[in-house]
Amino acid sequence: MQVKSVDILGIETSCDETAAAVVADGKIIKSSVIASQNKLHEKYGGVVPEIASRAHIEQIYPVIAEAIEQAGVSKDDIDAIAVANQPGLTIALVVGVTAAKTLALAWDKPLIAINHLHAHLQSAMLAEENLQLPAVALIVSGGHTCLYECLSPLELELLGFTIDDAAGEAFDKVAGILKLPYPGGPAIEEAAKKGNPNAIKFPRSMLGRDSLDFSFSGIKTAVLYYCRGQDMKGENKVDSMSEQEIADIAASFQAAVIDVLVKKTQRAAEKIGAETVLLGGGVAANNQLRTRLQQMCDSAVPQKKLLVAPKQYCTDNAVMVASLAYYKFKAKLFADLTLEPKASG
Ligand code: KG4
Ligand code: ZN
Repeated sequence: MQVKSVDILGIETSCDETAAAVVADGKIIKSSVIASQNKLHEKYGGVVPEIASRAHIEQIYPVIAEAIEQAGVSKDDIDAIAVANQPGLTIALVVGVTAAKTLALAWDKPLIAINHLHAHLQSAMLAEENLQLPAVALIVSGGHTCLYECLSPLELELLGFTIDDAAGEAFDKVAGILKLPYPGGPAIEEAAKKGNPNAIKFPRSMLGRDSLDFSFSGIKTAVLYYCRGQDMKGENKVDSMSEQEIADIAASFQAAVIDVLVKKTQRAAEKIGAETVLLGGGVAANNQLRTRLQQMCDSAVPQKKLLVAPKQYCTDNAVMVASLAYYKFKAKLFADLTLEPKASG
């Protein structure tokens, strides 16, 4: 007799994507629906929490209904409802959490609470059949930059995090300074293709020899001073810069951020004797970062295996939520209807 797969409905509303997905046995993606709000936040150059929350409220039920329809399952086939309840914008998270609790109650299904950052990591493990642990995991997103020691999908020890801006936030802010479109990461990556990464020596903040923490506010300020002068009283040179000058700034900035990310990941991997390096989060979509981490893993002694989230699952999605929830389902780690959103993770 064929054993029925464990089908989990995942829900994600932590920031500016409303997403739902059905994943079987943690690996088989039956559906993935994402309603992006990029267009709504574009003109503000960043996510506006109230606008995000309102858009989630409008989108959440159509997105869930579409995910279930695309998966070709009925509510009876769903074994559990999983939701990212932390970290993120509370007024955004609450929309997903409320929807998940409502469905869990109405359909009489177990509820599973998922940490959004841990879920990002899961995206990197999705396709791997033979995961060698321990792994060091770098999560680089718009709101977070973290290094974890990963002993299993559910056992994650935080090794380091950003003390100020997240890597993605720095990309977004520097794109704003350079008057490039939002979201800044892809725009900087595109502009940097034609630029010289050695044109400008922006600072690499290492925070001491052994530190695994990150700081990206200094480099963002360095770009600002470069464009406006040290006292910020100079004219904004960006408007009169050539495309080449903008490309050089973008490439030099990107190279500096990546140098720091790669160096710290290398330090962490050496410290814990990692067999594998996992990369996830929105900034993991960056090709330069992927290439440089691959080079680091190839040249390490002994070599390490790099596992990177597929591009469509680097930025926020619900596949990662439903996938990680499978391990919690097996371990019977369920939440109850008192589940609340939490801003910090
Ligand atoms: O993980 P994510 O979708 O949302 C959060 O959890 O924050 O990450 C979004 C971030 C944004 O800051 C965006 O600029 C950045 O990921 N990003 C990139 C690239 N694509 C998205 N950063 C650098 N290069 C990219 N190609
Ligand atoms: Zn995220």
